[in-house]
Amino acid sequence: MLILIAGITGMCGQPCARAALAKGHQVRGIGRNPDKLDADVGSKLESFVTTPDMTDRAALDKAVKGVDAIICALSYLPEVVVDVQLALLRVAERAGVKIFHGASWNYDWTKLQLGDHENYDAYLAFHRTAQLTSSIKPIYGFTGSIIEYIFYWTDRAKPLDKDTHTVPYIGTGDEKYIYITVDDLAAYTVAAIEAPGAAQGGNYYVESFRCTIREFAQMYGQARGGLEMQLRCDASTEMAEEMLAEARRTTDPRNWQKYIGLAYVTLMNNKKIDFDAVDSKRWAGQVKQTSLREWFEQHPDV
Ligand SMILES: NC(=O)c1ccc[n+]([C@@H]2O[C@H](COP(=O)([O-])OP(=O)(O)OC[C@H]3O[C@@H](n4cnc5c(N)ncnc54)[C@H](OP(=O)(O)O)[C@@H]3O)[C@@H](O)[C@H]2O)c1
Repeated sequence: MLILIAGITGMCGQPCARAALAKGHQVRGIGRNPDKLDADVGSKLESFVTTPDMTDRAALDKAVKGVDAIICALSYLPEVVVDVQLALLRVAERAGVKIFHGASWNYDWTKLQLGDHENYDAYLAFHRTAQLTSSIKPIYGFTGSIIEYIFYWTDRAKPLDKDTHTVPYIGTGDEKYIYITVDDLAAYTVAAIEAPGAAQGGNYYVESFRCTIREFAQMYGQARGGLEMQLRCDASTEMAEEMLAEARRTTDPRNWQKYIGLAYVTLMNNKKIDFDAVDSKRWAGQVKQTSLREWFEQHPDV
């Protein structure tokens, strides 16, 4: 297949490109800055369409010409998930592209209503608009938290402090959380667009591993040669719900990133966005799940 990856320069885009190339596909990229590509990806692309404006119709038309599938690996920002992704969907419709992996790789937002989670609102809005208006039936992937994101890519607090050997948490410490590595995510994404029926769209549910914060701390300690990690409860789930309600009352919604962590933890702890990773079982022959122990061992800097 010839696969277009929008957002190919990003955290998920590059691993998706590597996974697609490893399966023998041709990969085309579109983005604002090809210099952000690692050489091993950049040198193997079929082509790269550079555009300063990701909604530019001529650039998008050029990017989708002749492609068999599109992976939208663009940023999570609502203006990108809605505006840019809709522009991409419209050119894909006109070009007759049938397989469209929509922006996703989240906890299961299909169970939510608008207003439950500021960031997931954008995914729901795109999903519903596509459903109501498009001949394309997108695929959406549900993966839980991307472990590289929480350790390397976000400014939000890290899940553990390796200097003080502390693991902070909200809730009881016994809630199970779902995680995926970017490489597993990329392999599942390629499996999803290769699957028979990919053009019919739908959701898939996968994970690398799931664990409680206690198990997370314990595994980190074991992977670091028997380090004793201290758990620190920062708030109950109920307290976090109150803090979230107060933040929503007092914060301009455009500053949603300041309090979105509270929306995540309360929805996760209340199992509102949980899922069974049924497709990890379905694709067990194609994708080997990375364990938490393996991931810690592969990332000694964490
Ligand atoms: N489950 C999780 O823990 C988790 C965490 C993070 C992300 N995600 C999901 O993964 C997907 C990809 O996220 P990511 O973190 O890989 O993305 P990212 O690295 O933040 O961004 C991907 C690319 O999007 C382009 N981009 C950024 N801002 C843009 C803008 N304003 N207009 C146009 N293009 C823009 C950039 O490409 P250029 O600069 O080259 O144009 C960037 O390299 C998102 O849908 C997100 O929801 C999930």
